[in-house]
Amino acid sequence: MPVAVTALIEAFRERFSRDATHGLFSPGRVNLIGEHIDYCGGLVLPMAINLGTSAVFSANDSSMVRVYSSRFGELCSIDPHDVLTSKQGHWSDYVRGVFRVLGHRQMGAGFDIYINDNISAGGLSSSASFTIAIAIAAYQIVNGHDLQQEDQGQRLDTALKCQKVENDFVGVACGIMDQASILLGEVIQLNCKTLALERPAVDFGDYCLVVMNTMKTRELADVAYNDRVQETQQILTLLSERFGIRQLVDLDIHLLDDACKLLDQSLLIRRLRHVVSEQHRVISASKALIDNNMDRLGILMNESHASLQDDFEVTGNELNLITSLSRSFDGVLGSRMTGAGFGGCAISLVHRDVVKEHAGYVLRQYEASTSLRPDIFEVKSSKGAMSWQLD
Ligand code: GLA
Repeated sequence: MPVAVTALIEAFRERFSRDATHGLFSPGRVNLIGEHIDYCGGLVLPMAINLGTSAVFSANDSSMVRVYSSRFGELCSIDPHDVLTSKQGHWSDYVRGVFRVLGHRQMGAGFDIYINDNISAGGLSSSASFTIAIAIAAYQIVNGHDLQQEDQGQRLDTALKCQKVENDFVGVACGIMDQASILLGEVIQLNCKTLALERPAVDFGDYCLVVMNTMKTRELADVAYNDRVQETQQILTLLSERFGIRQLVDLDIHLLDDACKLLDQSLLIRRLRHVVSEQHRVISASKALIDNNMDRLGILMNESHASLQDDFEVTGNELNLITSLSRSFDGVLGSRMTGAGFGGCAISLVHRDVVKEHAGYVLRQYEASTSLRPDIFEVKSSKGAMSWQLD
């Protein structure tokens, strides 16, 4: 058993004066490419990572759910029957959201859970990872439901429910990418319209994937995110009849100029250009992965960032600076923001031999310009969310 779990079991016992019966791990994710197109029915290429939310839990003798988060150093007691509960702008909203949206509030079974996560960085999907951790524990305690027995379809179903927690309760109109990635694990190429998925065999060869946390806090990111979702919906309404499309990503790239003429508004034209071109980049990136062509993957990552910077406008100075510093270092094939943007994290494809030097260079230069000290580390892929019974 990993040492971290032993420590969690101990911490649980101290806090709740009983023994934990189950453990779980819900990973975070990076997105290799295919950004801001999941809510347009696009293709995405996320990878679940070895950082995430760990927890131990057990049923208690009440109907209350008690959640301790070691990141926030806080205990929250939640009554799942409380139908009037509403969003409070607090981390425990994700717990309340699970009970409201997943319907566990009808059940009488309470539980205690001790949570520890190591993904405080924005952009690695810590909120979806946390929400899924709570959902796994609730399913296990309330229904005796064993996550390990779930097939792909059932995991996708749980992903859709957890997406609803963000959409309907927290108020972020996010797509399905994060939840699907976390529950399914490794690298997936997911069609967000049909939920058909492929698992490309990924071998970065002499390169590895490095995360660079800008340390820039995301202010009003939810508002800006929802604005983008709304803008793409507006474009779809304007184009769907004329071009016979039901999703924005279905627009033939050769018809982009015609479509732009119809939009006649610079902002909407730029948004559309990103969505249609990003969809194509995902197809090319999947091919590059199959061909083990890391140079090509790197170029596509750079192009994706440029499109998110100039056309979709979700990057910001810090992400632009950190990716351009990274790109300028010898041995880096590509660099781009990952996740929602507006601050948060970027990823780079860095040659194994220069990982340390690259990190030192980016850190010094970035800190000198911004006075922010970035966190730079390698990530590896992880299996999807898992739970197990403790002895
Ligand atoms: C956030 C959302 C995802 C996706 C990305 C951008 O992570 O939760 O659904 O839209 O941003 O690609």
